[in-house]
Amino acid sequence: MERKTFYITTPIYYPSGKLHIGHSYTTVAADAMARYKRLQGYDVMFLTGTDEHGQKIQRVAAENGVTPKEYVDKIVDGIKKLWSLMKITNDKFIRTTDQEHVEAVQKIFKALYDKGDIYKSEYEGWYCTPCESFWTETQLVDGKCPDCGRAVEKTREESYFFRLSKYQDRLIRLFEENTEFIQPSSRRNEMLNNFLRPGLEDLCVSRTSFNWGVPVTFDEKHVVYVWIDALSNYITALGYLSDNDENFRKYWPADVHLVGKEIVRFHTIIWPAMLMALDLPLPKQVFGHGWLVLEGGKMSKSKGNVVDPVVLIEKYGLDAIRYFLLREVPFGADGVFSNEALINRINSDLANDLGNLVSRTTAMISKYFGGVIPGTRESGEFDQELISVLSSTKKRTEEYLDKLQFSAALTEIWKSVSRTNKYIDETMPWSLAKKEENKARLAGVLYNLAESIRIISILIQPFMPETPFKIWSQLAIAEEDRTWESAGQWGVYKQSAPVTPGEIIFPRIDLEKELEALAEMEKKQKVTQASSESAGREAKPAADKTGQPEGVALIGIEDFAKVELKVAKVLSCEKVEKSDKLLKLKLQCGNEERQVVSGIAQYYTPEEMVGKVLILVSNLKPAKLRGIESQGMILAASDKESGKLALVTVDGDIPTGSRVS
Ligand code: ME8
Ligand code: MG
Repeated sequence: MERKTFYITTPIYYPSGKLHIGHSYTTVAADAMARYKRLQGYDVMFLTGTDEHGQKIQRVAAENGVTPKEYVDKIVDGIKKLWSLMKITNDKFIRTTDQEHVEAVQKIFKALYDKGDIYKSEYEGWYCTPCESFWTETQLVDGKCPDCGRAVEKTREESYFFRLSKYQDRLIRLFEENTEFIQPSSRRNEMLNNFLRPGLEDLCVSRTSFNWGVPVTFDEKHVVYVWIDALSNYITALGYLSDNDENFRKYWPADVHLVGKEIVRFHTIIWPAMLMALDLPLPKQVFGHGWLVLEGGKMSKSKGNVVDPVVLIEKYGLDAIRYFLLREVPFGADGVFSNEALINRINSDLANDLGNLVSRTTAMISKYFGGVIPGTRESGEFDQELISVLSSTKKRTEEYLDKLQFSAALTEIWKSVSRTNKYIDETMPWSLAKKEENKARLAGVLYNLAESIRIISILIQPFMPETPFKIWSQLAIAEEDRTWESAGQWGVYKQSAPVTPGEIIFPRIDLEKELEALAEMEKKQKVTQASSESAGREAKPAADKTGQPEGVALIGIEDFAKVELKVAKVLSCEKVEKSDKLLKLKLQCGNEERQVVSGIAQYYTPEEMVGKVLILVSNLKPAKLRGIESQGMILAASDKESGKLALVTVDGDIPTGSRVS
């Protein structure tokens, strides 16, 4: 029999900077869903990727003095690494710069043009570059972008238009007849009332004022509007209009597009209209989740370590972070991310409830029976209730997961964790252990505990990629006893090896100490910045002030080793305003970018600097020069007599970031 398919997507991310924990929200949710469906036996296609074209990326790249492709390549690499660190199980990663995608978008554009759904005219209106959105005068709020509140730019250019207005009635009907199409349903009314019913205008779908995009094949000075390019990824990734469209035939239409609430409009109006124009079936559902915000407001990468997923995972572990993201806030609503809430969750749900259950149970099986529960077992009081709760948890969990209600699903699983902990209190195995005559009952109780944990360990798999394996190894749960199906059955547990209590799966975190440490970390960052600012690098070195004798003190190799020198390449360079000495440089140093302010403006022009490969003192404390942060120093030789200065450059081809010694 053919397996049922399940196609789920995340948005494709803008590689315009490092991702923060909010970005990983959509991806972790999609991953949980993909894992769940695979466990159920579906043939899953889980797609994610990057949205690499457009004005915004072209600008950021220019600011960094590199080509857009060079710029995105580096960031996309980081994004892929993050997903692998988070154990994201995407089946495909699409980049909109992939040749197959570019060609398919060109064919889509041409097909719509041939059909008459795309026509040439002139666009005059407003453009929000951060959102890559067009707006009419009346849509602006206080002259700003209605989505993000930022400034918009007046745009007037020859453009191609998509006949979006033609699909208005079909879209309204879709929204009215298919109430499942947009979830949660509150977003449906917003779309209907704010966009569809007031009337759709045709959409500008090409640009001529910049060129970082998919060229229109029949009119080369135009590039395809980035949202048309981006939305198409959901079908081009499956090979639509390519030589091999097997995946397209197999997986399309998507079961669910998972997106953040701010891009629901693109996915529920523009995207279905495009599909209608292409005579293709529509996705079954678009789910618009809420935002994770910080207590102080919107999340951004400039908030530093507290929102850096890599830092968070290093500190608290992957499963804890994934659990928190999906448990803390009902999927769909906005939620607040704070270290305190995260640590409290870890301590109560993970360390206390689940962690303790596993360690108490394995310890008792080991202590009372040397790790192997005897075959002669007695049942008794409290068993029936435990069994009925545990063996029905799978069904309730699935009901919630089918509606993408991750938090509710986890709540169900944790009810069964609590029920099992309560069973320990009720049956008091330690007191049964005191009398030989209670051995069979003790065996029965410990068996029920092990069996409950087996069920729980199976059900947490969509959310937690690591913990189930730890539990299976400690309880010696055989592979055939961990099928998804078997989480709905009671009495499956059989030991394949003795139980061995292992490491604590979720160590408790001392909340006060941890919060203090975090505050200290933040304070330190600030102090370093402030003190180096007041000291100022332009001040004379202390040695001169104290009038130390001329001459050179000898240092040991260990002193030299304290100075970290690295190869760095100048990406861009500009003069510092109101200073005739200083240049501001952007340097590439391995995976890092550094900003360095250097007093070389009288010797080098900014243009000359770009592309130079230099030596950077990379572990120098940051300092502020004229209010601009300088993250390190570049080496130069100078001659007092002649007043000459020459930069130290690197001979030969060696990657930036290489250590100099
Ligand atoms: O919008 N909380 O890309 P993007 C929750 N390229 N979700 C968040 C979040 C937060 N704090 N910050 C970001 C784009 N996200 C387009 C998509 S699809 C054809 C093109 C989510 O990198 C955001 O809601 O700006 C969105 O779903 C995703 O991250 C990618 O955002
Ligand atoms: Mg965005």
